[in-house]
Parts: sequence; structure tokens; C-alpha cells
Amino acid sequence: MKVKFKLNGKEIEVEIEDGELLIDTLRNRLKIKSVKHGCGIGECGTCTVLLDLKPVCSCLLLTKSVENRSITTVEGIDCEKLKESFATHGAVQCGFCTPGMLLSAYSLLIENKNPSKEEIKERISGNLCRCTGYNQIIEAIENVCKN
Ligand code: FES
Ligand code: FES
Repeated sequence: MKVKFKLNGKEIEVEIEDGELLIDTLRNRLKIKSVKHGCGIGECGTCTVLLDLKPVCSCLLLTKSVENRSITTVEGIDCEKLKESFATHGAVQCGFCTPGMLLSAYSLLIENKNPSKEEIKERISGNLCRCTGYNQIIEAIENVCKN
């Protein structure tokens, strides 16, 4: 079957299997490898994408369910400040969680330019990071809000 959706602002059409998951369409057919395959069961957040600008786990979503909707991956967000802040605060170590983390943070910042620490923690609570202990990530997001 064919499905049409907007990917990073461009209308696309892709041939998929009926029960295909969005993570597999993005990684295997559309070659977007920034969407990482972690747990596969909705617990780690490494596969996060934005669906109509809200973070979702692409390992839990059927590709056919995003017909006519908008999907954003880290390649599609305009967030140089956020990326720089992650780099300067040591919020990127192995980098496996980083695309999903950036997308969750970005989705919060477009809703709320000055979130509290609690709101930041809440928004990234679905994105696991094995390396940083989270403080650097939270500081990196807070720093963007201050500047
Ligand atoms: S791979 Fe999707 S939540 Fe872990
Ligand atoms: S930087 Fe390694 S998992 Fe987050």
C-alpha cells in the first residue's frame, strides 16, 4: 500500500507493508537513521519523532496511521541554539538518545518559551539517557530559555 504524509515539511509518498511501523519506514525506506531503534516497546524514547509537533514513539506507530499528517525528525527542526547548548553543556555523550531528546525539548520550547525545570523534566521523561545523568541535558534546555 501507499501512504502520503509530510516529512520535515515536504509531502512524500511511500510504499509500505500493511502493518509496517513508522520507525521501520523512516529508517529502512527513507534512510533517516537519526531515528534510533532502542527497546522497540515504547520505553526508551530513542525512536522519538514529532507527530504534528508532539513527541511520539515511532516504534509504536503504524505508518498508515500518519496518512496526511506531519512527521518531523531532528533533520527538520530549526534549533541551532538548542544543539549548541547541548554541545556546550556536555549533554551529548554517546549521542544515542540525542535526536529524541532534542525533539522532545524542541516540542516543549515551541509550546512554552520559558518552561520550569519540572516542565522540562516532565517533557523529557520518556527519553532515557544512559550516559549523562540528565542534569547536563536539563541545564542545556534551561540555558536556551535564558538566552
Ligand atoms: S525504540 Fe521506541 S521507545 Fe524504545
Ligand atoms: S548521551 Fe548516551 S544515552 Fe544519552
